[in-house]
Amino acid sequence: MKKSIGPDKIRTAIFISGTGSNLKNLIKFSSKRNSPISINLVISNKKKAKGLKYANQKKIEKKIVTFKEQKKAEKIIINLLKKRKIKFICLAGFMKILSNNFLKKFNGKVVNIHPSLLPKYKGLYTHKRALKNNDNFSGCTVHYVTSKLDSGKIILQKKIKISKTDNENTLRKKILIEEHKLYPRAINKIFI
Ligand code: GRF
Repeated sequence: MKKSIGPDKIRTAIFISGTGSNLKNLIKFSSKRNSPISINLVISNKKKAKGLKYANQKKIEKKIVTFKEQKKAEKIIINLLKKRKIKFICLAGFMKILSNNFLKKFNGKVVNIHPSLLPKYKGLYTHKRALKNNDNFSGCTVHYVTSKLDSGKIILQKKIKISKTDNENTLRKKILIEEHKLYPRAINKIFI
């Protein structure tokens, strides 16, 4: 999928469910001249996702698609993406598992960020689990998305030291800082 940077950036959609700090960060990254992506659509499965405010601020089109019926929701999203010629999808705190059927249509073009050193701690409560196990290190991973939770090929990973005084909150904050550096680096790695 390598592509040199030109005036035509890769049309990208970001999927969120919550706070959207990674969305905010990717919007900033995409606005740099040498970023390979432009963000053309934000999709949230939650109407009240806080991160939607960043799409509003930057006047990026946003759509709310609830996942009460996953098949229907995915069909709606596929149409939205096709109409807007979206070629790349970044999941950023998106709390739904996309089906094989959906992913086949965007084969190898969907990536996610996860707050652990995968394959360790797939799923939720990664910080709590790392602390409970007295791990010395944690971190974050950007990986390709498959229909198996947090299991696709790893693109980049960043390791950080857990200090004795860390709690869930401090660890989450520390790792988020690294997430915001890692996601743009991983996108550059894919395209440049
Ligand atoms: C991040 O920790 C991300 O790794 C995980 O969900 C969290 C989303 O945070 N998948 P935010 O909404 O981007 O602030």
